[in-house]
Amino acid sequence: MDLTQEILALKRTRNAVILAHNYQTGDIQDVADFVGDSLGLAYQAKSTAADVIVFCGVHFMAETAKIVNPGKIVVLPDADAGCSLEASCPAPDLAAYLAANAAKNYYVIAYINCSGAVKALSDVICTSGNAVKIVNQAPPERPILFVPDANLGAWVMEQTGRKMDLWQGSCYVHVEFTRDSINRIKADHPGALVVAHPECTHAVRLLADEVCSTEKMIAYCRTAPVRDIIVVTESGMLHRLRKECPDKNLIAGPTDRCACADCRYMKLNTLQKLRDCLADLHPRVEMEEGLRAKAELPLLRMLEQSR
Ligand code: 13P
Ligand code: SF4
Repeated sequence: MDLTQEILALKRTRNAVILAHNYQTGDIQDVADFVGDSLGLAYQAKSTAADVIVFCGVHFMAETAKIVNPGKIVVLPDADAGCSLEASCPAPDLAAYLAANAAKNYYVIAYINCSGAVKALSDVICTSGNAVKIVNQAPPERPILFVPDANLGAWVMEQTGRKMDLWQGSCYVHVEFTRDSINRIKADHPGALVVAHPECTHAVRLLADEVCSTEKMIAYCRTAPVRDIIVVTESGMLHRLRKECPDKNLIAGPTDRCACADCRYMKLNTLQKLRDCLADLHPRVEMEEGLRAKAELPLLRMLEQSR
């Protein structure tokens, strides 16, 4: 039996569902039940009838699945798959900041790329796919603190006109794209459109024809009136886009150092580790119940507000 067949057989025995983020390698995406962005995967995790959720993405994504499914087993192929955004906002630092600024009575909006402990300190969660919608529903009389991604936060401010205080975190992958690297690839492909993720810097977003979440990139590329499209996000996205939009020429956005950008955390997962975690039901995501219940409230608020 090859690895893929073994995974499919184990999946049936375990009554498991395999969820994969758009940044996973092609072989993992091809064996998954659902491939999507953070928002789509959060909905899938909430509605699944499976006993076991195998989350092929990074740790905070698997943890999110556990928060909304305390009774299920949630495993991920590599427990070390972290995220630079999550690391940029340790919960004790956020708690200390909120305590020092208690008089402001902040309404805290946390991008889903953060730990469960940060979620537990927040009023509502958002993803890049619904951030504009969530910010538009924030109580108008309360100042907003947006954590942890300053680039996404700045983009949402531009879209909504709502002022927010921004935690100074960033995605180490998306800040590698520069104005020069994108201008160079644009010069190589005159007439190409540019689609970029909102975690990119302001200078790069200014060069984009569209700024959106990974899932929205699919609809954008499918309906774009041109064949050449430069995709400024993590390289895994290209596999999904090429499958969904076979008539388009999808060009990876380069950085100053590389022809495309890989997230080293997303790429820790492999087909072999996916097989192993299904066979061993390990590594598992576990959460202390008090913390989980606190983190669930802002997540459920997000799911409600983004319908
Ligand atoms: P999406 O919500 O667009 O899937 O993005 C998640 C992410 O980690 C981007 O770097
Ligand atoms: Fe985190 Fe960036 Fe990797 Fe997404 S691409 S998981 S934001 S480090």
